[in-house]
Amino acid sequence: MELTYRPRRLRHSASLRSMVRETILNPEDFIYPLFIHEGDDIQAIEAMPGINRWSLDSLIEEVQRAWGLGIRCIVLFPKISQSLKTEDGAECFNEKGLIPRAIRRLKQELPEMTIMTDVALDPYSSDGHDGIVNSEGVVLNDETIVNLCKQSLVQAQAGADLIGPSDMMDGRVGAIREVLDDEGFEHVGIISYSAKYSSAYYGPFREALDSAPKALNNKPIPKDKNTYQMDPANAREALIEAQLDEQEGADILMVKPGLAYMDIIYRLRQESDLPIAAYNVSGEYSMIKAAAAKSWIDEKSVVLETLLSFKRAGADLILTYHACDAAQWLKDR
Ligand code: PBG
Repeated sequence: MELTYRPRRLRHSASLRSMVRETILNPEDFIYPLFIHEGDDIQAIEAMPGINRWSLDSLIEEVQRAWGLGIRCIVLFPKISQSLKTEDGAECFNEKGLIPRAIRRLKQELPEMTIMTDVALDPYSSDGHDGIVNSEGVVLNDETIVNLCKQSLVQAQAGADLIGPSDMMDGRVGAIREVLDDEGFEHVGIISYSAKYSSAYYGPFREALDSAPKALNNKPIPKDKNTYQMDPANAREALIEAQLDEQEGADILMVKPGLAYMDIIYRLRQESDLPIAAYNVSGEYSMIKAAAAKSWIDEKSVVLETLLSFKRAGADLILTYHACDAAQWLKDR
């Protein structure tokens, strides 16, 4: 055949392929999510093999390990004991609470590690919702934001570098920005869960934190998060959410979940010049782990291909439970 273009020419050898490679994954791209609890033991999470609920001491060791692998940012999620959960989730702004204590210790032991937090009421809410639920079963927006602002401030005072509102209330980024600035934390950034979908992929996470919505004492509790998290059918709406977050002062935009929402990552990349993060959520992790455990897929190859795809779609940062494994594999390569 007489062909002018033969794209295979540039795939001919490993060196050529490495020269024309468009996307390269680095450990600095990863944000490592960690679950913590009050006890002294390390608790395995059944649906997420390899992921644990850490005690404060073991958390420090795990974060040191991550640092050694080149990871530069972690995000903390607390499992709060049932006795501390209330309808308004007030434990979220207890300055002696689990998260502020963990941040303080981490900042003492490893000041260079960037610490991101999650801002939402669900780990602290007896109803299991990200906002305050009134007696009619309505998730209240503006009342919730008052508590989210207090939560953010307590996290910033403890030493958090990036505040991550994941609650999907309207106007929370602007309100948090204002409180942080008023209190002298203008250097603390906001990584906003801008386009967070109401997704079944969060199942294992809710098991890890025991945070699924639940009805107690005949209160009508919405069984899903559909009145605040986004409808998986909508893409244009994600652009509106992202624009609002940008106007309100977000420093980084996030899309969550990741895999089923690659088009959203791509569209946000076209629309915004801010850094974009993708959350490779718990259910995505569990699916790979389960298939790999049966030897139906090769874990390392599938994980690295998946993480690379987020970056190719336009994400600068990837929140992933595979962070340490992937960083190790990149090192070995
Ligand atoms: C809670 C929150 C959730 C996740 C991160 N923050 C769950 C939810 O909205 O119910 C999910 C993360 C994951 O599945 O890995 N605000």
